[in-house]
Amino acid sequence: MTKGPGAESAWRGWRAATEDALYGPGGFYRRPEGPAGHFRTSVHASPLFAGAVARLLCRVDEALGRPERLDFADLGAGRGELVTGVLAALPAEVVARTRAYAVELADRPADLDERIDWRDELPDTITGLLFANEWLDNVPVDVAETDPAGVPRAVLVAPDGTERLGEPLEGPAADWLARWWPLPAEPGARAEIGLPRDLAWAAAVRRVARGLAVAVDYTHALGARPLFGTLTGFREGRETTPVPDGTCDITAHVALDACAVAGSAQENTAGAAPRLLTQRDALRALDVTGARPPLTLATTDPAGYVRALARAGEAAELTATGGLGDFGWLLQPVGTDQAPL
Ligand SMILES: C[S@@+](CC[C@H](N)C(=O)[O-])C[C@H]1O[C@@H](n2cnc3c(N)ncnc32)[C@H](O)[C@@H]1O
Repeated sequence: MTKGPGAESAWRGWRAATEDALYGPGGFYRRPEGPAGHFRTSVHASPLFAGAVARLLCRVDEALGRPERLDFADLGAGRGELVTGVLAALPAEVVARTRAYAVELADRPADLDERIDWRDELPDTITGLLFANEWLDNVPVDVAETDPAGVPRAVLVAPDGTERLGEPLEGPAADWLARWWPLPAEPGARAEIGLPRDLAWAAAVRRVARGLAVAVDYTHALGARPLFGTLTGFREGRETTPVPDGTCDITAHVALDACAVAGSAQENTAGAAPRLLTQRDALRALDVTGARPPLTLATTDPAGYVRALARAGEAAELTATGGLGDFGWLLQPVGTDQAPL
């Protein structure tokens, strides 16, 4: 913890500071290069990811009895890369019935497929699949730290990223920590207060009339939260110190277990249990495997062999231990108890 700028007004909680730095005028996510200019998500890693999401949408379609209108809503759509890939991967009969939404705070890209409805809010009612890849980790959160007397306090931050401790935590933030991320008495222990993510997820899930809501993100679970938290920055492909000045992404891993409970407490999700699994398991269940093609293919179809080898490499990246494969998938069914995975 360092001392920082003198003006009292410069000090704010991380949540308010991040909100402005990412989404305010001139904020990081308003920049023309988009998220892909600074980091690589599963969507950018390989078209196999969009193919798997398209297969998941088809399974949801079956479970819903092939409705006349099938919705696919990509929440936190970046520059529309996933929704574009999903439309390209769907069978013609399904795509003809699909209404595709890209929900994003940034402006619509100029060359986007005109079938995609670009908007800054979810539609009121979704019958189909709501998919949020690396959205929740960008829902800003406050940070707590244990002080030298063992008391959890709010961490305040100045625009240059220096921090100091504020008031002891109380109210809903303290309640959330006590339940989901009990801070050890060890001075310097830190936690991110995930309550705004629980609320954001619950609000998103409420828009689903029937179907499935899926959140995919870096995650940790109760009992194994990191001692010093996970708040970090990304700039031009590199991890960096988080500074709330609009020059870098500010992100923290997501307590998806808490989001699952919040999502399940909604009226529309009654009776359908959420599921948490790793991306590795989710993608395998959606037929993405890193198996190498048989060597015999190299002689019978050399070009096909090279293509299959490249696909296997991409699948391996999407399912890698210590990498994207460790991401969490939260599946929240609504109005159907048929497990799509
Ligand atoms: C880490 S990027 C992920 C982009 C994309 N889903 C991907 O996986 O490549 C997070 C995106 O969520 C968007 N976002 C954050 N909060 C949002 C909100 N409340 N509504 C819509 N988009 C939001 C940001 O602008 C940003 O483009």
